[in-house]
Amino acid sequence: VSYRFIELCCGSASMTLHLLGATSPLLPYQGSKWRFRAELTRLFERSGHVGPPDQVELYDPGPWGFAAPCVIAPDRRRLLIEHLEALAALDARTAYDALHKEPVPDEPALMAAQYLFLQRLSYSGKAVGILDGTWRSPGFNTSSAYGLAATERFGQVLPMVPSLIRTLRSYDRLILPTRLGGGREPAPPPDGPVPQPTVIYLDPPYAGVTAYPNGQLGRADVVQLALTWREAGAAVFVSEAEALPELVELGWAGELLTKGRGDTSRFRGKQEEWVTWALPR
Ligand SMILES: C[S@@+](CC[C@H](N)C(=O)[O-])C[C@H]1O[C@@H](n2cnc3c(N)ncnc32)[C@H](O)[C@@H]1O
Repeated sequence: VSYRFIELCCGSASMTLHLLGATSPLLPYQGSKWRFRAELTRLFERSGHVGPPDQVELYDPGPWGFAAPCVIAPDRRRLLIEHLEALAALDARTAYDALHKEPVPDEPALMAAQYLFLQRLSYSGKAVGILDGTWRSPGFNTSSAYGLAATERFGQVLPMVPSLIRTLRSYDRLILPTRLGGGREPAPPPDGPVPQPTVIYLDPPYAGVTAYPNGQLGRADVVQLALTWREAGAAVFVSEAEALPELVELGWAGELLTKGRGDTSRFRGKQEEWVTWALPR
């Protein structure tokens, strides 16, 4: 039986991409769950949701809300790649200066290309935002833009935008859902009982860590969303740096994830990583 998979705070949509068969993450992003994908998938499987979902919804009030669906839908991805290739043909600094603090375009694939360009060249995956309809990048990382020659201590670093384009091309092999929805909006509550098996993955901005530029979701709202989606009939999984006491008190399970061997991420957090979850009521 297939199922509907909803990422309420999708960011770079690591879990959706993984479930659809992606073998690389799109790019480094503050708070990405790519390195926890295997353990999270095992939890989804234990709850009876196995294999790729046949319906996907991705929500985020930041630029990912429009960029993530563009990355998955083949027609939009094709256009997005064309726009990114045009940006990659320019000098990276010139292209960056032409985008940062300039208006965000309306055309979704162009918007997504400009966003992914800026996001790929930001330091340590720090989030690019939109302010008053203009792009706000936290900075231009020269070594990601131009690459670095090998030294005695470090290997060569290749320019990152061409590698982003290769990753996007590799998504031609994704297992496509029959429906792809969501949007650039805050995590919505359910609009009624869920009609089919549904997995909610809620990966909010963590309490007390670097905020995101286009939205917030406080603990009380996270708990409320988790409870209402479960009440509506979904299996709900919430990531945080702790098991959420408000949910554990109500009988939800809390699991500590381990980082897995072979993890070479430079963006490894020092925090613990927990999932609080419950089967549908
Ligand atoms: C921890 S990150 C998600 C990372 C994602 N799982 C990944 O693998 O890339 C949290 C995301 O929540 C988004 N966010 C902030 N406020 C939100 C809200 N009210 N509703 C939904 N998402 C929100 C942020 O823009 C950010 O992209």
